Amino acid sequence: MRFVYVMDPMDRVLPDKDTTFAFLRAAQARGHDALHCEPRDVFVKNADVYARVRHLTVSDAAPHAVFGATDEVRLADVQAVLIRKDPPFDAAYLYLTLMLERARGRTVLLNDPRGLREANEKLYTLHFAKWMPRTLVTSNEEQIQAFVGEVGGRAVIKPLDLAGGAGVMMLTAGDKNARGIIQLLTDEGRRLAMVQEYLPAVEQGDKRVLLLDGAVLGAINRVPRADDFRSNIHVGGSVEPYQVTKEERAMIEDIAPRLKQDGLVFVGLDVIGGKLTEVNVTSPTGIQQLSQHENRDVAADVIQWIERAANDYRPQLKSIPAY
Ligand SMILES: Nc1ncnc2c1ncn2[C@@H]1O[C@H](COP(=O)(O)OP(=O)(O)O)[C@@H](O)[C@H]1O
Ligand SMILES: [Mg+2]
Repeated sequence: MRFVYVMDPMDRVLPDKDTTFAFLRAAQARGHDALHCEPRDVFVKNADVYARVRHLTVSDAAPHAVFGATDEVRLADVQAVLIRKDPPFDAAYLYLTLMLERARGRTVLLNDPRGLREANEKLYTLHFAKWMPRTLVTSNEEQIQAFVGEVGGRAVIKPLDLAGGAGVMMLTAGDKNARGIIQLLTDEGRRLAMVQEYLPAVEQGDKRVLLLDGAVLGAINRVPRADDFRSNIHVGGSVEPYQVTKEERAMIEDIAPRLKQDGLVFVGLDVIGGKLTEVNVTSPTGIQQLSQHENRDVAADVIQWIERAANDYRPQLKSIPAY
């Protein structure tokens, strides 16, 4: 099979850490061709969607990525498109998802571009409010100050469109930096931010639960460094094995139908002290660390899911929809 990966440049990818690299590696091991492109390489012509791609071979030993020939492919002609571009979710990302609509029903799209648009990683959690910590979304400084007081004087403020812990900060009542932080994150009232009660359980770690088609693939725990509260691997959180609890399974059962409806096949939930803080859909990570703990290549499960989905497509759907 041929898989197109819409992602960041390969020199930004960490071969021993990143989930996208694990997908590339597992797919290659199963005999599939990798076609790499960036969002700017995707284009629409006569209402059909194509990409300028480069053939890619990956290896655990350096050089980790070797590019072959350049090609132009119609996305309906490949078996799957893996959309794995890291945030920010900006205008270019939005346009990418809108162009990929042209391939709907004609190839496997992981995740569904419509779902990617629908599911802002921070705001999508609001659909599952009963599992969330107390949360405020606003651009208003006074409201944020009042909320920090309401939740006991300690809160976390985060931008809506970033990832990897970027811009996530703590707000403490009485801290002389608090106003500055709020003004920075809200661009002085012009931009929305999410403010959440601080969950002290974060000191024991932020759980990353990976889901495949609504089912648990596995989970890891990410423990923050002593000098930070952010647990992201990207900012130095250390990774431990983790088993999903009964309560967390109940939460996942609640969330899964909505994910399915939105075509969000490969998803990473962030869970702190049993509370849902984020639903990662753009390029969730953690599969390499999970594979190490489980002593098997969990990425292969995802690739096998894609193979099955690709085999389910009927050839007549490959032709261009009414134009
Ligand atoms: N409500 C919270 N209470 C305590 N810590 C939090 C809270 N929300 C986030 N954090 C910490 O900040 C990190 C990043 O937050 P998150 O919402 O997952 O955004 P992102 O991972 O997209 O940067 C988390 O891994 C966690 O360590
Ligand atoms: Mg997170």
